[in-house]
Amino acid sequence: MFYHIEIWGCQMNEHDAEILSGMLEQIGYRKTEVLSQADVIILYTCCVREKAEHKVFARLGQLKKYKTTNPNLLIAVGGCMAQQPEMGEDIRVRAPYVDLVFGTHNIHRLPQLLEEAKDAEVTLIEVWDREREIVENLPASRMNKLKAYVTIMYGCNNFCSYCIVPYVRGRERSREPEEIIKELKELASNGFKEIMFLGQNVNSYGKDLARPVDFADLLLQADAIPGLERIRYMTSHPRDFTEKLINTIAGSQKICEHFHLPIQAGSNRILKLMRRGYTKESYLELIAKVREAVPQATLTTDIIVGFPGETDEDFADTLEVITKARFDQAYTFIYSPRKGTPAAEMPDQVPQEVKKERFQKLLDLQNRISWELNQQMLGKIEEVLVEGTSKTDPAKLSGRTRGNKIVVVDGPEELIGHVIKVKIEEAQTWSLQGKIIGE
Ligand code: 5AD
Ligand code: SF4
Repeated sequence: MFYHIEIWGCQMNEHDAEILSGMLEQIGYRKTEVLSQADVIILYTCCVREKAEHKVFARLGQLKKYKTTNPNLLIAVGGCMAQQPEMGEDIRVRAPYVDLVFGTHNIHRLPQLLEEAKDAEVTLIEVWDREREIVENLPASRMNKLKAYVTIMYGCNNFCSYCIVPYVRGRERSREPEEIIKELKELASNGFKEIMFLGQNVNSYGKDLARPVDFADLLLQADAIPGLERIRYMTSHPRDFTEKLINTIAGSQKICEHFHLPIQAGSNRILKLMRRGYTKESYLELIAKVREAVPQATLTTDIIVGFPGETDEDFADTLEVITKARFDQAYTFIYSPRKGTPAAEMPDQVPQEVKKERFQKLLDLQNRISWELNQQMLGKIEEVLVEGTSKTDPAKLSGRTRGNKIVVVDGPEELIGHVIKVKIEEAQTWSLQGKIIGE
């Protein structure tokens, strides 16, 4: 029996999909990329922006035909889109050939749900309206053999006014540090070199636990685990990024000098409407502190253009902050109204053409800055963890610096999984090339 899984959205979804895969493999399924071979097809979905939802319905339309060649095929839709109120019913009406809809809080139930769906007359919908206890010790079939995702907390309590995540991922719940450390030790003994801590807002880690522990404490414990080379984390909230955390990272061995701090907008008026809890001034102060404590830090961010009421002046503030902050990379998004969030109801929604124009301007500016910063890497010696062969040129190797920049080098495949020293010799907007100078 074979399963096929398609994933939209963030690392959290990618990791959920690893757990879905792990559970299916435990009950005897094997993974396939050949759709006509699959007995179960799962679409694991995102709803942060509206476009992703359209894509899911379009994809379902394409998948329908596989049911005629394989009448036993089960099609399931899970994840954030499925978790939204009434979405299950919507899918049942628009795509009645879907067998199962499940949400974000009950992924551990997939094996039972598939069994139940086999006998159901209509689409089986099981979406829990709220989070329950964290389920530990679920198997994971990891996509990468070097880098592992480790969820440290679920959910988000921030309710930024544009964001649907708190509605589909529930309130913040932290895993017990002992559970996390146990998982890290297992990963280290299985040869994993890099850990990515996952959480919607990792800085809030531990606030809800009975025994006090914070994110910096957790990082320190992880830093001491032998065998691991690198520790990363995603995502931080600039409002909660403490000095203790900066100093912990600065003094650590393995925590990478990459700071992803989503700014979202540069205008204080818009930041307030977004309910972000910081100003452009306090944000710039924060990154100045980061750079002072960790001079080699790379900085990346997320930015939304076209939030309701964003004027030309507000947008000019965003460009100004981008110019001042000089991010290595920015993930830029056009604002997408999400049903149920306060921003979707706000007046003065920005017309699509204006959003697109601003988006392009932002991209042009950021690409120039990324290119300039990468040029400054020329001649530098960087530690690169070799992750595999290069996607664009399979004859070469590809890896990342501690700052998370992609580096392509010539070298033997035996180096995969090793940290090497590379002299940077060429630089583009998105990647670097270099020469190996040692291990
Ligand atoms: N529209 C556009 N972008 C959004 N993001 C979150 N919600 C929306 C939305 N409604 C962006 C934010 C966040 C990233 C993961 O997605 O920038 O940091
Ligand atoms: Fe959404 Fe804000 Fe939570 Fe990030 S911090 S997931 S943007 S509500």
